[in-house]
Order: sequence, then C-alpha cells, then structure tokens
Amino acid sequence: MSGEARRGSGRASGKVILLGEHAVVYGVSALAAGIDLGATAEATLLGRDEPSAIEMGGERVIADARGDDDRGRALAALLDEGGALPPMRIVASSNLPPAGGLGSSAAIGVAAARAAMDIAGLAPDDEAAIARATAWERVFHGNPSGIDTAAAALGTCFRFTREGGPAPIGVAKELVLAIGMSGQTASTKVMVEGVAKLRERKREMVDRSIAGIGALVSNAALAIEAGDLAALGKLMDLNQMLLAGLMLSTEKLEELCSLARGAGALGAKLTGKGGGGAAIALAADDEAAARILAAWRGAGYEAFSTKVGTRTRIS
Ligand code: MEV
Repeated sequence: MSGEARRGSGRASGKVILLGEHAVVYGVSALAAGIDLGATAEATLLGRDEPSAIEMGGERVIADARGDDDRGRALAALLDEGGALPPMRIVASSNLPPAGGLGSSAAIGVAAARAAMDIAGLAPDDEAAIARATAWERVFHGNPSGIDTAAAALGTCFRFTREGGPAPIGVAKELVLAIGMSGQTASTKVMVEGVAKLRERKREMVDRSIAGIGALVSNAALAIEAGDLAALGKLMDLNQMLLAGLMLSTEKLEELCSLARGAGALGAKLTGKGGGGAAIALAADDEAAARILAAWRGAGYEAFSTKVGTRTRIS
C-alpha cells in the first residue's frame, strides 16, 4: 500500500451560556450558543495492539480507563461510549482559552469524538458524538448537565434542559456579544460542587435563586425570539445578580460587568462556571461592541466579540 494513511477529522464550537448556567444542573432550562472559536481534531488508526492516545498542545496521553491521568480516563470513556472504537491516535487543538468558561474541554471532546467516529467509518451523528463527549466531560466535571457538549456539537442558539436536551430557538435579531476574559481560571467541577455545598447549608435561598434563574431564562427566550435586545440585556443583569448571590462571581468579573455597562452594554454577566473565566456583554450593534471592548482592553483585559445568529457555525 502507498500514500498517506487515511485521516478522520472533526470540528466543534466553543460556547457562551447566555443565561441559566449552574441552575441548569438542577433541571431548569438555560440558553446557550456556539461561538466562532472552537476545536479541531484529526484521527489515524493504529495497529491492533497499540494503545489509543490523544495529543493536545504537544503532549501525548494514552487512553487508560483505570489510570491516574484524567485525560487518559476521559479518552478511554470517549472511545468506549456506545460501542468500543479501534485503537487510534487523535491530535486535537483548540483556539479557546483553556478553563476560560467558553467550553474548551467540551469542544475538544466533541471534535475528538467526531474524528474518532469518522476514522472508524461511522456516519456523522450529533447525538452519538454528544454522548461520547459527555462521557469525556464526566471524567473532568463529575456532574455535567450536558449543555457544553450540546453547544459544541450544534453551534447554534438553543434552550437546554437536562431532561430534554437542546431545542434550537429562533434568533429574530442577531446578538452582538462582547466577551471579556477575567484572566482567572477556575475548575467547573469545583464551582459546581461549591453551589451544591452552599445548597446543603442554605437550601431555601439556593432553590429560590435557581427557580428565579429559570424564570429569567423563559423570559430571555421570548426576548430573543422577539428581537427585544433591551429586555434581554436587563434579564442578563438580573441573572448576574443571582449568580453573584450563589458566590460564583469575582471582583474581576464584577469589574468587567460594570465597565461594560458603563460603556453602554445592554446587559452583562459572567458566562459558564464563574469563579473566573469570561464575562459577556450584550451590545446594541458593532460600534457599541467596539466601545465595550475598548473599555475592557483599556483596563488590561483580553477581549473579543462574536455574533450569535440562527445559522449553524461549526459542524
Ligand atoms: C459550565 O459551562 C456550565 C455549568 O452550568 C455546568 C454544567 O451545566 O454542566 C456551570
């Protein structure tokens, strides 16, 4: 045989959670959307006796269901979920900030699952890729709702519940979002466990916040479908207040939110796990987004903008 070995390939989006992070873990719905940044992966088959491995950032990790390395256990889970795949080498890369709250690990999981299924000769299948990537995520995050892997696979704007999964929603008016990086990283697992611990101590308060967030999400879905950006911005601000009450915000995230509002944002909040990572601000248009980015950059934060529409971004 001559020529290059066949390669399987996969891509996936990063994500922003527009409203409803953390509450979604407890069964209420959340709103998320894919963003332009994301992950790619390539897979090649190995000999029958070779161990599967994944390379990320020049580091190689071998699949090992019982090993000490989370990444090795996660790869073993991904390759096994729903039917074992043959030995393979996966090379993955992402242009999302790691641990930045923008779904980097889920995007790598979905891209790797897609590449693995492709090289194994399986037809593209979002549900199967999401299931494999969720098995990968479970190793890192313990109790993921599944919203990150759904966003990574779908790339569109959708409402999500643990029970029902993703349901795409119509975006009447494109959302222009500014994304500011706090520069702090946090572990999703630790932040999710933090809310669970707070709930053990202050059950009524936490359950009221979760229900309140659920109500904000329902109204935000209506606002997105109606193109009412001013209402959506106010709902994001209220969501941020409830997230701060759940101890998920930080001084830097609060500073990002107030700088954004001062620069004319319609609303601003943390996105994803909190405790660091990113804040999002809703802008009325591109010029408004540029003013928010300038305010953030002027204060030393890394920032960029993205747009959320109805079209599928990366699949
Ligand atoms: C993390 O991006 C979103 C959380 O709600 C966790 C989850 O849904 O699995 C914090």
